[in-house]
Amino acid sequence: MKRVVAGSSSQRLANELSHKLGVKTADITIKRFPDGECYVKLNEACDHVIIVGNTYPDESIIELLLLQDAARRKAKTVEMVIPYFGYGRQDKIFQDGEAISAEKIARLVAQDADRVVIVNPHKEHILHFFTKDAQLCDGMPALARHFKNIVDDVIAPDKGALSMAQKASEIIGCSYDYFEKTRISGSEVKMEIKHMGIEGRRVLIIDDIISTGGTMVKAIEILREQHAKEVYAGCIHGLFAKGAAGKIMKSGCTELVVTDTIETAYSTVSVAEEVVKFL
Ligand code: R5P
Repeated sequence: MKRVVAGSSSQRLANELSHKLGVKTADITIKRFPDGECYVKLNEACDHVIIVGNTYPDESIIELLLLQDAARRKAKTVEMVIPYFGYGRQDKIFQDGEAISAEKIARLVAQDADRVVIVNPHKEHILHFFTKDAQLCDGMPALARHFKNIVDDVIAPDKGALSMAQKASEIIGCSYDYFEKTRISGSEVKMEIKHMGIEGRRVLIIDDIISTGGTMVKAIEILREQHAKEVYAGCIHGLFAKGAAGKIMKSGCTELVVTDTIETAYSTVSVAEEVVKFL
């Protein structure tokens, strides 16, 4: 018997996947003890388990590891879907003495997994940290489809997101560009659109992660100053730290769309259709 096990931060996506796969979600108990410690229990027999859960926020990591342990004790195979792999941005040593957080978390998750599917890890090389079969699922096509016939151009907020903008533009059938960032001082960064004129155009800014929203807000403000007709913000993982979504909307964004890798009020796009191809 195969079952989808839904982590508490990934209920919607797990249900979507269960529906698409024709596999029931498992009967599980997840609760917290009065002191905050996590308790999980798999209440039914299953041979094959697909666990859907994030390594963000921190408490989800413990929950995920316990779900894996419970599953491992009953099932023959444990597949993991990690919609948002938290700690992915600390993927190397930037300063002497740092931990490589992405590697540590990946190794922990790999311990009790037969294979792992990760939606848009911040950097592709993170897959190698898993020491097991790990595959990258790109949720961007689902995001891009949402903007078909809505935008005229796609723009990446920095060069790192350029290939994502290019792919999105191919799906939407429009042009693409990126913002070039020049560091003026320790705290000041200048952002300029590399090639394109955007006056009177409907522009989508696309990125993998929105955290504080600072990058998006700056890009939206520049596009507004240059008289874009409409400015859309699209992103795979909406972390929305420190009221980021509100700040983005206030800066003149026509629509903010993120996927359901992290479930938020702006998660109008599901990556289920892309993830299911890997299961
Ligand atoms: C950076 O490499 C990422 O792709 C995002 O651009 C970044 O994490 C966004 O952060 P924030 O929302 O805090 O500007």
